[in-house]
Amino acid sequence: MNEPRFPNDEREDPWIVVQVSSDEHWNAYHDIRRAVLFEARGLIGYEANHPDDRREGHFPLLLLLENTPVGAARLDLMSPQTACVRTVAIRAECQGKGYGRMLMAGLEKIASQHGVKRLVVNAARDAVGFYEALEWTVVEAGGENPVLTKELRTRPQW
Ligand SMILES: CC(C)(COP(=O)(O)OP(=O)(O)OC[C@H]1O[C@@H](n2cnc3c(N)ncnc32)[C@H](O)[C@@H]1OP(=O)(O)O)[C@@H](O)C(=O)NCCC(=O)NCCS
Repeated sequence: MNEPRFPNDEREDPWIVVQVSSDEHWNAYHDIRRAVLFEARGLIGYEANHPDDRREGHFPLLLLLENTPVGAARLDLMSPQTACVRTVAIRAECQGKGYGRMLMAGLEKIASQHGVKRLVVNAARDAVGFYEALEWTVVEAGGENPVLTKELRTRPQW
């Protein structure tokens, strides 16, 4: 099956962010999110058939490292120029190695290709530093999930 692919600019590193569509990638997407965002936090009740994952304008994404899925996230278009970043997760054994940065670079590229100018996230409190390292700005610090935004730079079209 042909999946939309979004390689990094330099085409040097063996990583790629793909939009989930094959059964194999759906399974990996759910496995990563269930393990990282639920099981590792002592939570139960992960829904692998949640309608939000298949909604129009929602893009479930996987980071593949030499074809092995190591991270997952979802990009939800909210308005013509704004999108929300959801459920960002890197496999536990792969965290702290720069893969979250790669996943978000691919996500930003996909967002830009859909005309998005501004990203928003309701972050886990202990992940705020991750977003700040990626040049996101805190706009609401209070509450259980701080809100951060990032303005996407537009590139000249050739
Ligand atoms: C948060 C998460 C996605 C980050 O991915 P990662 O692969 O571990 O992050 P990276 O190695 O790419 O780190 C990128 C940068 O963010 C920083 N960073 C990463 N996690 C951080 C954290 N929790 N707090 C502060 N800074 C962090 C790194 O130091 C690095 O900075 P540098 O490039 O300037 O050295 C990952 O750790 C994860 O899945 N955590 C559990 C689930 C979670 O909290 N998801 C976020 C939901 S909003």
